[in-house]
Amino acid sequence: MRLLAALCLLLLLRFAEPRRGRRSDAAERGSAEWAHTRGRGRAGVVRRQTQECKEYFDAGEKYLDCQDRQLTTVMEGWPKDIHHLLLARNKIQVLRDNMFSQFSQLKSLDLQQNAISMVEDRAFNGLSKLRTLLLQHNSLKTASDEVLLPMPRLTYLRLYDNPWSCHCPLDSLLRTLQVPSNRNLGNYAKCAEPLSLRGQKLKKLNVDSLCAGDNQVDETQPKPPTKKIVATSMCHTYMFPKPVLDCSYKGLSNVPSDLPSDIVKMDLSGNNIKHLRPKQFLHSKDLKMLNLSSTSLNQIDAGAFAGLLYLRELDLSNNSLHYFQYAVLEDLYFLRKLSLSNNPWICDYNIHYLIYWLKLHPGVAHTGLICAEPREFRGWRVVDYVKTYNGECPKDIQTGGANNGAQGGTENE
Ligand SMILES: *[C@@H]1O[C@H](CO)[C@@H](O)[C@H](O)[C@H]1NC(C)=O
Ligand SMILES: *[C@@H]1O[C@H](CO)[C@@H](O)[C@H](O)[C@H]1NC(C)=O
Repeated sequence: MRLLAALCLLLLLRFAEPRRGRRSDAAERGSAEWAHTRGRGRAGVVRRQTQECKEYFDAGEKYLDCQDRQLTTVMEGWPKDIHHLLLARNKIQVLRDNMFSQFSQLKSLDLQQNAISMVEDRAFNGLSKLRTLLLQHNSLKTASDEVLLPMPRLTYLRLYDNPWSCHCPLDSLLRTLQVPSNRNLGNYAKCAEPLSLRGQKLKKLNVDSLCAGDNQVDETQPKPPTKKIVATSMCHTYMFPKPVLDCSYKGLSNVPSDLPSDIVKMDLSGNNIKHLRPKQFLHSKDLKMLNLSSTSLNQIDAGAFAGLLYLRELDLSNNSLHYFQYAVLEDLYFLRKLSLSNNPWICDYNIHYLIYWLKLHPGVAHTGLICAEPREFRGWRVVDYVKTYNGECPKDIQTGGANNGAQGGTENE
């Protein structure tokens, strides 16, 4: 009897909660902000937010953007003819059998940054056209290769930053990932356990030892923790609309060592990197935009930008740069925009290389090149300083000189 009463009370409480939520929604309805707020009041959240999924076309393909909506599953009533489904940063925990089968046209599915800890074997049934599947930043420990069978066209699979348990049950998936033609399946994903395999890449693991050695687990000799900063776990990658790596404000003191090679935009701003060494971006061949603003840079070695053949925009603003070393800029063939503001540029002989390079590359729009030192040139445009050095003193400076002379004269009188 008492148990029954307790149960009733529990049920009552559960029902009370949504009502509370609804009331607070009603209270907020008056504010213009209401339509834009998310996650206020527990109840109705899912319903309201699915209505907010954005549907749009790009290059003739249909996208459904349901990111950041507290969703735990896909919803009835979503359009079925979409090509790209964006579900990043929701609350999905389990991918159930046939969960996506109504979206038979799907080419890409972004499930990153959820809380997925389980994928049922037929979760991706019906996705025969799927090419890109993003599952990074979740809680997956194991899966079988059967999950991949419904997707014969899959060429791009992200699995990193999941706590992979490298024991025998993972064997079949590993074998599939390691087939040489599956070049872009599961790159960067690493074992979290057992201790003896922690940090090893799924792509490189010796699969044969996995099941053979499973009963003689060696936990006695953990690998020493690596000092390297791992971009793939520290930073977030977004595939849409362009592949972007967002490492801004992560407290990094180095450029991460395992930058993905297919990234188009990289944001490293707001860190504490200080020194750019040679060839740190060598493998980021597709990079078009690199943001290094506000990261305390005071030294850039020659060769630091090696490999950035297609870089179009470089933001170096708000750092501690004094000048560019000779040859630093030579790798940037296609640069179009260079942001240099808020650096203590020193107007002496060292700055000439930068001006020389800019002269040879008139297509590069640059901003913020103002002398901070020495005192007599503070506030001058660096270009004007270099002109005076070369003996082509611009008119306004000459006038300034004349005024100073006049003032001096006045003082003397
Ligand atoms: C680079 O990052 C800073 C700070 O995060 C931002 O203010 C700036 O607009 C970014 N630069 C570009 C070119 O997007
Ligand atoms: C410039 O960088 C400093 C630290 O490097 C930071 O505290 C400051 O907020 C940045 N300013 C802007 C405008 O981003």
